[in-house]
Amino acid sequence: MEKVAVVTGANKGIGYGIVKGLCQKFDGIIYLTARDEKRGQDALKSIKDLNVCKHPENLRFHKLDILDQSSIQALHNDLKAQHGGLDILVNNAAIAFKNSATESFSHQAEVTLQTNYFALVTLCHILFPLLRPHARVVNLSSSAGHLSNMAEGELKRKLLDESLTEEQLSKIMTDFVNLAKEGKHTEVGWPNSAYSVSKIGVTKLSFIQHATLSKDANRPDIIVNPVHPGYVDTDMTSHKGPLTIDEGAHSSLVAALVPQDAKEPRGQFIWFDGNIVSWDGPKPISVNAMRAALAAQPK
Ligand SMILES: NC(=O)c1ccc[n+]([C@@H]2O[C@H](COP(=O)([O-])OP(=O)(O)OC[C@H]3O[C@@H](n4cnc5c(N)ncnc54)[C@H](OP(=O)(O)O)[C@@H]3O)[C@@H](O)[C@H]2O)c1
Repeated sequence: MEKVAVVTGANKGIGYGIVKGLCQKFDGIIYLTARDEKRGQDALKSIKDLNVCKHPENLRFHKLDILDQSSIQALHNDLKAQHGGLDILVNNAAIAFKNSATESFSHQAEVTLQTNYFALVTLCHILFPLLRPHARVVNLSSSAGHLSNMAEGELKRKLLDESLTEEQLSKIMTDFVNLAKEGKHTEVGWPNSAYSVSKIGVTKLSFIQHATLSKDANRPDIIVNPVHPGYVDTDMTSHKGPLTIDEGAHSSLVAALVPQDAKEPRGQFIWFDGNIVSWDGPKPISVNAMRAALAAQPK
């Protein structure tokens, strides 16, 4: 049976790089998805024109707006009808307000959590029933989704609790949006960044999803890993990140292509260099620090 991969928000940036990488390394059908048909079709053509695909005929476009439940359902229905299942799901689509944004923090909190956390939850509810044994799910987190961004305290302890359920996590995320409206979110230990909170949520969600799917006896060896792509040269970073989109796609490709029955990574945080890091340790090395360390090595 032919394997199938889906990448969300893939018309540009890291998602585009992930599709390009899959075209070079994965033998199955690859869906480049985007919320805008033209931007998606243009991206598809641009990857095909690079002549890097092992099987150019396997690269396809599907429209997908992760904020639109009917759009997710349409993708589900087409995948089910045409392929009967799904083997790789890369949840890449996300938004980030610029530092210069003039919208209130309350508005930023609501909109950011809606796209980066709650839409991802809904998408997974709709698409997870399609996951076949040995499927790989990659959730794009960030260094901003590392727990070192939070203050010590009860909230951090709750997030570290391995018995925390998805419903409880979603309630914590809703509570954040409500606290942000009152300007009280930092009092309970959240960082003053809606983007960071959304990615902390995505990271914890990934661990919960992995633990839940690991108990599914009918579908063995499904793995969910959150990844930090590094600081990448994309529209999201206003092109300030030093990594290329191909370098930024590396950790996602590592997670998407974990070999069958591999010992790890399994429900673990993958850093931009492909290494597994602890969610609850000191913040792992940044791209700039790694570059500086490499440059300082004797030649
Ligand atoms: N760049 C970095 O340094 C960095 C660092 C850490 C983590 N990340 C994460 O990596 C992922 C990709 O980031 P990026 O830098 O490549 O961002 P980007 O260049 O801004 O691209 C984001 C992609 O998501 C899509 N998108 C946004 N909302 C969507 C929706 N409702 N439905 C479908 N697609 C939607 C965008 O589509 P449109 O073109 O239609 O807007 C675009 O294709 C994100 O999850 C981001 O948080 C990035």
